[in-house]
Amino acid sequence: MRPTQSPFPATRLRRTRQSPAIRALTRQTTLSVDDFIWPVFVRAGEGIEEPIPSMPGVFRRSVDKIVEAAREAADLGIPAICIFPYTGIEERTEDCAGAWDPENHANRAIRAIKAAVPEIAVMTDVALDTYNINGHDGFVENGEIVNDRTVEALVKMTLAQADAGADIIGPSDMMDGRVGAMRAALEAAGHQNVMILSYAAKYASAFYGPFRDAVGASGALTGDKKTYQMDPGNSDEALRLIERDLSEGADMVMVKPGLAYLDICRRVKDSFGAPTYAYQVSGEFSMIQAAAEHGWIDGEKVMMESLMAFKRAGCDGILTYFAPAAARVLNGSR
Ligand code: PBG
Repeated sequence: MRPTQSPFPATRLRRTRQSPAIRALTRQTTLSVDDFIWPVFVRAGEGIEEPIPSMPGVFRRSVDKIVEAAREAADLGIPAICIFPYTGIEERTEDCAGAWDPENHANRAIRAIKAAVPEIAVMTDVALDTYNINGHDGFVENGEIVNDRTVEALVKMTLAQADAGADIIGPSDMMDGRVGAMRAALEAAGHQNVMILSYAAKYASAFYGPFRDAVGASGALTGDKKTYQMDPGNSDEALRLIERDLSEGADMVMVKPGLAYLDICRRVKDSFGAPTYAYQVSGEFSMIQAAAEHGWIDGEKVMMESLMAFKRAGCDGILTYFAPAAARVLNGSR
């Protein structure tokens, strides 16, 4: 005998999708301007806003223009900006001394933003690649990227950034032991309140291609970064790295790249509950921009959907080149 069946579905899940009001009421995840950190590129000169061909809509700006951009970001409600220097080949050396020069473009930009736009938090990038003749994040000796000597240089770079007024230090180099060394040096120098957002789970990714153009590293890089950045096949290792960096004093942690690594974001958030960020990197950005320019996708909708995905995966925020554009959509001021 067959059990008697109701002629109706027991549960109509479509009921809670029936109108904008009900969808708003039942939506689990929301995206807000508070979620964004905006990465920007600073270069030498004055009055310069130079488009980056491989990143449509993104510019390299001189310090004065970076300050204007920071003002605009703060007015849109974006809480943080992240400074990356563009360095020409003539500014790169084997000893990477430019990295801890208080007068390098990044440090001048930090000081100028903190003076003119004090309400926006300023994040930095700590790695040697933008000052290194060979484009690597660490010193190269006999073809090997050496760890401990690099960490000493990263500490000097960190202190120069903190002295310039940085709020959040962002080590993106993937050397072992750098977070602990940086934390100790910051404390000893009286920078107790300067935070560390560690690029803890950073993969050796082909999605960084356009960024390396943006910072002038494409021509410079010899070989790849696989001996220090993570293998894309690994997941448990990301948890070990996050645990290690948190134990060394990281205040916040990052997964990078973003969309292809949302499973890692979710594991990290569920395992540690620490403030967790994803970096929607240059290649992810440029793929969306390129497809939108061809009219193959609706660029604005895909932008918002991709950003929402990071929140749904457990991230507290996103580093994204879309920050101002997405903020305009969220503010309803397109
Ligand atoms: C390097 C660094 C990279 C990015 C941020 N910091 C590139 C790399 O590791 O080669 C990539 C960001 C992006 O692709 O948007 N220190």
